[in-house]
Amino acid sequence: MAPVPSFPVKVGHIDDVQELNKAKPITVPERFVRDMADRPKLTENITTSTGIPIIDLSKLMEGDRDERFSEVMQLQTACEEWGFFQVLNHGIDLNVLENMEKVAKDFFVLPLHEKQKYPMAPGTVQGYGQAFVFSENQKLDWCNMFALGVEPPCIRNPKLWPSNPANFREILEIYSREIRELCKILLKYIAASLGLKGDVFEEMFRVAVQAVRMNYYPPCSRPDLVLGLSPHSDGSALTVLQQGKDSSVGLQILKDQTWLPVQPIPNALVINIGDTLEVLTNGKYKSVEHRAVTHKEKDRLSIVTFYAPSYEIELGPMPELVDEKNPCRYRRYNHGEYSKHYVTNKLQGKRTLEFAKIQPNTSN
Ligand code: OGA
Ligand code: NI
Repeated sequence: MAPVPSFPVKVGHIDDVQELNKAKPITVPERFVRDMADRPKLTENITTSTGIPIIDLSKLMEGDRDERFSEVMQLQTACEEWGFFQVLNHGIDLNVLENMEKVAKDFFVLPLHEKQKYPMAPGTVQGYGQAFVFSENQKLDWCNMFALGVEPPCIRNPKLWPSNPANFREILEIYSREIRELCKILLKYIAASLGLKGDVFEEMFRVAVQAVRMNYYPPCSRPDLVLGLSPHSDGSALTVLQQGKDSSVGLQILKDQTWLPVQPIPNALVINIGDTLEVLTNGKYKSVEHRAVTHKEKDRLSIVTFYAPSYEIELGPMPELVDEKNPCRYRRYNHGEYSKHYVTNKLQGKRTLEFAKIQPNTSN
């Protein structure tokens, strides 16, 4: 993850949003104020809709024949029509999730100078700070991030793994191991839902790359003016997002041109399809645009794992998913090249995936 960009990056001063929030300004600094068209509507998070699909992993793994079949069909619909789902009964010990949430929170509440021992260099995406900022006039997100490459060990930057909280590293190791297993299991069923052999992705991905990003969104006096995280799709194959307990509703996905909130379900994990699976499935499964909004009084924490193929591999649409009715929509490319392209461009909806499109500018 996070290669140092080969171009000079001048980002100017970036305010730390937790510090801004401590000062409780009534006005929000200009750099955080979004253009009219990009501002969230505060009514968006009040919804009566049923929300994104729910997949019960225990039914997929242990259900009887009919249950397994019906759950695989639901998984297929979730990936095709939503690109997002929440997974219940995922098999990960709740203590593991709680411990991770605790150390992440403990990290964010440290004094600024302590967190700044692990700085995210301008233009890179590992460490503490704001990622995806490349210029002085770019709008900023109301969010503090702490991101680390985890697997394989060669992508780690050990200097950025904090020694405070004392048990952070150990907890992150345990957490990452569990999430990695979950990703492998989910990819097996995703393959099945496409009518493919269960181990097709695991074989293709070789030693998968795994990175974690903790996003902390402090309250904001003007949630109507700012975004917690700019709209984007994820560059991963699969993303696993854990929402902190008692967090405000903040994650929104774009469905049929409308931003829909993802209502947190206790102990569930939010899963989404990343750009890599969109390409591999020739667009059958969608990497859906999403963003985060903030709350006037409540803070919010999310712990996000990105799971992707080895940088070494070449990929493109799988032949099984290309035919006369579904002509090939993406070119073949090296995954490391795509990752580099992704982390050296600002978050801008699904713009990054133009990299792979055979006909750029076709709407999606
Ligand atoms: C991300 C992401 C959303 C959230 O980190 O890629 O989409 O709710 N986060 O924090
Ligand atoms: Ni995302």
